[in-house]
Amino acid sequence: MHSNSIKPRIRHLLTVESLSPDEIRMIFRITRELKARRAQGIACPFLAGRVLALLFEKPSLRTRVSFEAGIAQLGGTSLYLGAETGFGKRESSVDFARVLGQYVDLVVIRAFSHETVVTFAQHAGCSVINGLTDHAHPCQALADLYTIEEHFGTLEGQTIAWVGDGNNVARSLAMGCAKLGVRLIMATPSGYRFSEQYVSQLRQAGMTAGPEVVDDPVEAVRQASVVYTDVWTSMGQEAETEERRRVFAPYQVNSRLMSFAPKQSVFMHCMPAHRGEEVTDEVIDGPQSIVVIQAANRMHVQKGIMVWLLNLADALLSGS
Ligand code: CP
Ligand code: NVA
Repeated sequence: MHSNSIKPRIRHLLTVESLSPDEIRMIFRITRELKARRAQGIACPFLAGRVLALLFEKPSLRTRVSFEAGIAQLGGTSLYLGAETGFGKRESSVDFARVLGQYVDLVVIRAFSHETVVTFAQHAGCSVINGLTDHAHPCQALADLYTIEEHFGTLEGQTIAWVGDGNNVARSLAMGCAKLGVRLIMATPSGYRFSEQYVSQLRQAGMTAGPEVVDDPVEAVRQASVVYTDVWTSMGQEAETEERRRVFAPYQVNSRLMSFAPKQSVFMHCMPAHRGEEVTDEVIDGPQSIVVIQAANRMHVQKGIMVWLLNLADALLSGS
């Protein structure tokens, strides 16, 4: 079990587990307000004078740029820390966290190991956001659920069919579904499903029957409002690429599979996509795909997360 111990009065976002349903709804409310104001061209300098550091052990387009653009829109500044800062190499990670937290208000970390992010949060003395680990991708899941609510007008009655690997993105999305009462059906091959321990965490969080797991992707998508997939080989698993291609081949989201999903269903993918593997061009570029809106909402939701973490929701929402 991953510990999430935090210093008093400092909020972190390390997993969706750590958020209550009301806190998720509050982040969505802040996001809606910020997104609407941006659409109207209204300046929102709520993070003026605040500094965000980004520390990435793996590559990123969406997470990095959406955080940097997001804090700039809110009047703050970002610092992308390159390899020369020597995280994990030049000094102890605890010393690194303690010192970095003296300079900045927020740190986004993308790390191979989830424990790296947990330890960092325990020592940084500022708010820490998980920008993806082997275990979780909470910013992605929150943006995904926000996107689904925005698209359909409500999360109530929606069913997500997850087709593919039971990975970091799937775990966080499932936890969000548990907290917000969204039905989740997973077509995931055995050996790539959630651990018993994680299923029991989902049950405790509100997914009383656990995720419904099926062998056949067709069965999963038949009742779906959302068909969601992610890469078969996540960053850090490259040595398993060939084996995963073999195992996941029957789980490709292609036009045939989408033909079994309801017409009004949408296709989602956290991206980057490996076209021709987990999804075909005709699906990701097709009329049901909302992947670009989904990626755009990463920025809006992360603006909401930053405002919430720094306890500025009241300042934004009073009078709205
Ligand atoms: N979806 C996502 O996190 O994308 P990046 O790896 O580009 O940040
Ligand atoms: N599961 C993927 C998500 C990338 C955003 C990975 O970890 O590489």
